[in-house]
Amino acid sequence: MTKILTIDGPSGVGKGTISEYLSDKLKWNYLNSGALYRAIAWVVINDSIEINDILEIEKASEKILFSIENKKLHILYKNIEIGSLIYNEEVAKIASKISSEPKVRESILNVQRSFKKEPGLVAEGRDMGSVIFPEAQVKLFLTATIETRAQRRFKQLKDRKFNVSLPALIKDLDARDKRDKSRESSPLVIPEGALVIETDDLSIIEVKKIAKDKVNKTYGTNI
Ligand code: DC
Repeated sequence: MTKILTIDGPSGVGKGTISEYLSDKLKWNYLNSGALYRAIAWVVINDSIEINDILEIEKASEKILFSIENKKLHILYKNIEIGSLIYNEEVAKIASKISSEPKVRESILNVQRSFKKEPGLVAEGRDMGSVIFPEAQVKLFLTATIETRAQRRFKQLKDRKFNVSLPALIKDLDARDKRDKSRESSPLVIPEGALVIETDDLSIIEVKKIAKDKVNKTYGTNI
């Protein structure tokens, strides 16, 4: 039985940091499912596809090649590596919109499941523990208020010298939260049996420790 650990939660809650940390420590494979939706969104923007044209989006999505090399995700579209182009607010906004479409979600179902490989998998997203890998032995769900998440993102972007406004970030996160939670297909929910970690008053080190303890207790590891 392949070991699977899922980490779900809303945008900007720190899933990426914790998932990368745990997959690194465990030396397991790592699936960042948001990157797959972002890749499709990037293609929608790049190819000027109408956002409601689900058939065209599906067709484009089939042309994206996802592969893993040295545990790193590579995303190729028409021979261009687009992995580094998908982390911006414009792509995130479109990703959030197209991900509510069941056909778009279906189009990457098999790709996501193909990450389930020995020696184990750390999978992060919105529906990892609830829909894609319900068999996971450890399910974590990270939460934080919108204000906390917006403050963290604000600091991150400022550090990278991006000019952003905090109220605009709060508005964006709020819209994304609403879409993620209210969509009919695989909405953001706390998976059954998940350990919920409220991160508002915790440092990254403290969140890592809670996650690590849970992993060690479940798998008998010592990370
Ligand atoms: O985690 P992220 O911000 O990179 O994800 C981008 C968008 O993709 C997010 O707004 C919702 C969507 N998404 C999803 O619907 N299901 C997932 N498992 C992961 C992401």
